[in-house]
Amino acid sequence: LPFGGRSSVRVTRSVYGAAAMKSLPYFCRGEVVRGFGRGSKELGIPTANFPDSVVENLPADIGTGIYYGWASLGNGDVHKMVMSIGWNPYYKNTKKSMETHVIHTFKEDFYGELLSVVMVGYIRPERSFDSLDALVTAINDDIEEANTKLDHPEHLKLKEDNFFTSAPSFSSVTPPTTSSGSQTIMNGH
Ligand SMILES: Cc1cc2nc3c(=O)[nH]c(=O)nc-3n(C[C@H](O)[C@H](O)[C@H](O)COP(=O)(O)O)c2cc1C
Repeated sequence: LPFGGRSSVRVTRSVYGAAAMKSLPYFCRGEVVRGFGRGSKELGIPTANFPDSVVENLPADIGTGIYYGWASLGNGDVHKMVMSIGWNPYYKNTKKSMETHVIHTFKEDFYGELLSVVMVGYIRPERSFDSLDALVTAINDDIEEANTKLDHPEHLKLKEDNFFTSAPSFSSVTPPTTSSGSQTIMNGH
């Protein structure tokens, strides 16, 4: 594996509750690609999309739904994140996506940057909503839940994982448009 081995950090199953999935915590990274562009504009909640290769390599037990965890861009700081995996029923997308909202205010957008994430826990299934407002309210509740859960000592440990300090600064070596090698999957898959 070009980015190092599997994490040595273990997280107690009990903290995941009923939705325990054996593949969590799940580490992956990939270049940020363009989504449908609604995240910032319509929702006021910017999301970073992973390339198809990352979406297609998800282990089978990581189903669609909303997750929380940690994320960093390039070699930057590690922040809390929430992620939506699936077809966005509100928008009736036909393509499965993995969209990460990093809980931090960035000055610029990050297309082409390397996004590293560890998915730590599951929040809820994806669902449709009667209005855009209701979707935004649900996402804000997800952010609040992630904020609280990630302060748990078992989760804070993952923030310090070597995975984040070993992020290759590929964009300074290879232009993002040709960096097919950047979409490598971690976790030994
Ligand atoms: C934490 C989080 C939860 C989400 N939950 C849902 C959901 O329950 N249903 C849904 O249709 N979309 C959900 N979304 C996806 C948004 O609809 C999506 O991020 C938005 O359409 C922007 O997509 P785009 O960047 O591809 O344009 C969620 C996104 C995030 C970050």
